[in-house]
Amino acid sequence: MDQQKIDILICTKVWQPEPWVEGLSKSPLINKVHVWPTEEDLSSVKALFVWKPMDEGVVERLPNLQWVSSLGAGVDHLVNDSQIPEDIPITRIVDPFLTRDMTNYCIMGVMMYQRSMDQHKMNQSNAHWDRIGYKNLKVGVLGLGELGGHCAATLAGLGFEVSGFSRTPKTIENVDCYAGDQLAEFLSPLDVLINLLPVTPQTESILDTKLFDQMKRGAYLINVARGNHLVEADLIDSLDSGHLSGALLDVFREEPLPSEHPFWNQPKIKVTPHVASVTSPDSALKLLLKNTEKLIEGEELLNLVNRDAGY
Ligand code: NAP
Ligand code: GLV
Repeated sequence: MDQQKIDILICTKVWQPEPWVEGLSKSPLINKVHVWPTEEDLSSVKALFVWKPMDEGVVERLPNLQWVSSLGAGVDHLVNDSQIPEDIPITRIVDPFLTRDMTNYCIMGVMMYQRSMDQHKMNQSNAHWDRIGYKNLKVGVLGLGELGGHCAATLAGLGFEVSGFSRTPKTIENVDCYAGDQLAEFLSPLDVLINLLPVTPQTESILDTKLFDQMKRGAYLINVARGNHLVEADLIDSLDSGHLSGALLDVFREEPLPSEHPFWNQPKIKVTPHVASVTSPDSALKLLLKNTEKLIEGEELLNLVNRDAGY
């Protein structure tokens, strides 16, 4: 075997491994792509690519592991996995198509809400002509990273009044940026809140009654980050009381969303099945191969996760 080539293990439960295996196998940097579960000898595997969740016992089969990558933008499934030794770098996907698709989904959510599309659809079924008005909206984006920053800047470019909140201060053209202890100030004027935070101990269950109560009556929620950000019962209470007017949810504590879950039948909630932005193997493979080259050359990997921060 060429000493420079590496073996890779793909461990993906939710997505089909084939496109990843096919793309990686064509690279001159890669000796063999293994797919979990397997009885093959994995002792020469140096890189592990995971889309969640990962079975117990995977990493103990990889004595020469040097790098773990998420196959998505989120890494909550990896930073909390005690199988992965502290000194193994974890990377994630940062990809212009993933970013574009997330922004487009959020624009769709904001515009469907702004233009009362649900009501127009209902009116259509009753042959009822009602020229419902609309107003410009104040949209707030929680999390101003790769996805949130792009989403906020693009919405501002479309003419919405946009603000954003992050852990550390940011400057984004035409976006009012808040950070640190300014959460209440950020939330109070919003018509729409878009959540694009990572799940960490600080952000888990952040979308709760306390937060909703800091928003004005009638505000709308779009959660595209993770289900664990949302306290589901608090959302239902806020919708029932009319404090929030509706929600578009793409992510859930349990996925697939169980058939008996109340969200399916709540008229003020729109559900999509974790499709806001899906990694495209074609473009993500380019990044994974760039990082494979860096691993072989002994250079620092791109898009490293800060394991202490949890994202
Ligand atoms: P990212 O680049 O790591 O950005 C995270 C942002 O959140 C940063 O601005 C960060 O602040 C901020 N943040 C972190 N902790 C915070 C806290 N305690 N208080 C306030 N702000 C905090 O992540 P990303 O690539 O934009 O992705 C965001 C999330 O989207 C992912 O973690 C994933 O869960 C989700 N996602 C969902 C889908 C889908 O299809 N539904 C697709 C892709 C991703 P700093 O800038 O100050 O560090
Ligand atoms: C999808 O949820 C991702 O994190 O890429």
